[in-house]
Amino acid sequence: MDQKAFKKEAAKAALAYVPKGCVLGVGTGSTTMYFIQGLKKGWVRGAVPSSKETERALRKKGIRVLDLNQAKKVSLYVDGADEVDPKLMLIKGGGGALTREKIIATAAKKFICIVDESKLVKRLGKFPVPLEVVPMARNQVAREIRKRGGRPVWRKNFITDNGGDILDVHGWKVANPIKKENELERIPGVICAGVFGKRRADLLLVGTPQGVEQFISVTGIRW
Ligand code: 5RP
Repeated sequence: MDQKAFKKEAAKAALAYVPKGCVLGVGTGSTTMYFIQGLKKGWVRGAVPSSKETERALRKKGIRVLDLNQAKKVSLYVDGADEVDPKLMLIKGGGGALTREKIIATAAKKFICIVDESKLVKRLGKFPVPLEVVPMARNQVAREIRKRGGRPVWRKNFITDNGGDILDVHGWKVANPIKKENELERIPGVICAGVFGKRRADLLLVGTPQGVEQFISVTGIRW
């Protein structure tokens, strides 16, 4: 089996955790697309998408799309990640949807992350940290990032669903994800940092050659 097959297996395993009639938050990316493919029409009350791409995929499946402002509560959020550390803290934003992903993940009672095993790392930072920034502040934010030892690369020809720019920051070893997230999100012009430390995953499903492995974080929620 290849990486694609492991992503599919993790996505399939997540379907069993979706309560009937719930409001579901749905992430962005190829693993999440496999998850959406498996969702049955009428199973959830509605879904809150983290991107226009996900919204299109949900509508195509006949799943009712909800705006977060309409949804009283989001029971569960399901999404992929670019890196996952042993505490289930994440780097996200490879697909550029990090801001809406973080908002919905934070609003959700539970967060299941679905990945193939290539995403597991001991420490975050091999994958460049995406930052969504206000376009007129891009160079100013880039200077602030260089002062902090990072190498920001502007993701040219890419505009987020919120009209933001993305800077991918190379060269950081993220020893303390929560500290890094706070530090980055305090820089004026940064809309969102792709470090998910404060809102890490509650449950991780990993597609591996041995099957799907499960890891539970220590957030204390009941499954
Ligand atoms: C999008 C994301 C994705 O979850 C992340 O990039 C993983 O994508 P894939 O499932 O295609 O490997 O954060 O902003």
